Amino acid sequence: MFYREVLITIAAHSLAPRGVIRPVDIYLDDPDHWIIVMEKADGDVSHLLEDPDTLNKFHQAGAVAGRPIPEIIIREIYAQPIMAIYLMNKAHITHRDIKNENLLYSCSGGPCRVMIADFGFSTLTDAELMTEPFCGTPYVLPLCMLNGSYGNRNHRRTMDVYGIISSIHVAASYEGKLKASTPEKLTDSTTLVSKKEMSSKASVLEEKEKMSFLSTVVQKGKGVLRYWKGGAFVKRPISDELKAIFKAVLIQENWEPNPKTIGQLIPLLHSWAHAPLLGGPLLTSL
Ligand SMILES: Nc1ncnc2c1ncn2[C@@H]1O[C@H](COP(=O)(O)OP(=O)(O)OP(=O)(O)O)[C@@H](O)[C@H]1O
Ligand SMILES: [Mg+2]
Repeated sequence: MFYREVLITIAAHSLAPRGVIRPVDIYLDDPDHWIIVMEKADGDVSHLLEDPDTLNKFHQAGAVAGRPIPEIIIREIYAQPIMAIYLMNKAHITHRDIKNENLLYSCSGGPCRVMIADFGFSTLTDAELMTEPFCGTPYVLPLCMLNGSYGNRNHRRTMDVYGIISSIHVAASYEGKLKASTPEKLTDSTTLVSKKEMSSKASVLEEKEKMSFLSTVVQKGKGVLRYWKGGAFVKRPISDELKAIFKAVLIQENWEPNPKTIGQLIPLLHSWAHAPLLGGPLLTSL
């Protein structure tokens, strides 16, 4: 690990101790190489979505294999990382690779926690954010970044917001076996490191655009999430409050001219936190 990753992990954890993986010890291996010992989590959220028994530890809402994950459980999972991103972004730390694979969960020895990990692409200051090469993972990046307008300061600053909301969308549109039954292209989450490399992936991205959340339309009707699966659109009921968040962030026309910070989303997040989902409102931290 490079020094900067160690430094930012420690800084982020001190800002948001409950929502960031806990560094336990660090060693200097050689001048360029550090070793960090971190708390051991039970796994990452991409695997959690496939595990109904553990999902039910977040809230006894009756998650069942192969069925949509109850929204109340989704709300529980993402509350801590949302708060951590809010605190980090306020302190000008940008993670730049927020996705379910980099959110770790732990349900051992107390209430379940979800923590942000993998600060390998993160930046500590706005100056760094603008000078560091662009990076991220295509399926959790807005189209405006993928199509080359990623130099925009506002877009860069808000990529964590897009990352966490699209991760929530992955959870909301998750069905058992989704991964196994989709083409390889959809599950390719290759990290983008340069514009050149990005353009060579254009056709993959076009395909993703059709298949993944990038093409999601939140229907005009009430409380329905519409997403592409297996050659057809699938509809799933979600709360109006969650739909409003997806609309504000994932719909390009709403996002591109005015990308949102978590701070700007607080009224919507607050409404979602107190929405009367099955089992009643649980979150008071947002
Ligand atoms: N502290 C931890 N406790 C439990 N699992 C962890 C921990 N750190 C990482 N993992 C698991 O290892 C995976 C990869 O870790 P991490 O995201 O830190 O590295 P990475 O740079 O993304 O590596 P790679 O891209 O090769 O997967 C995570 O998605 C998670 O499943
Ligand atoms: Mg990772």
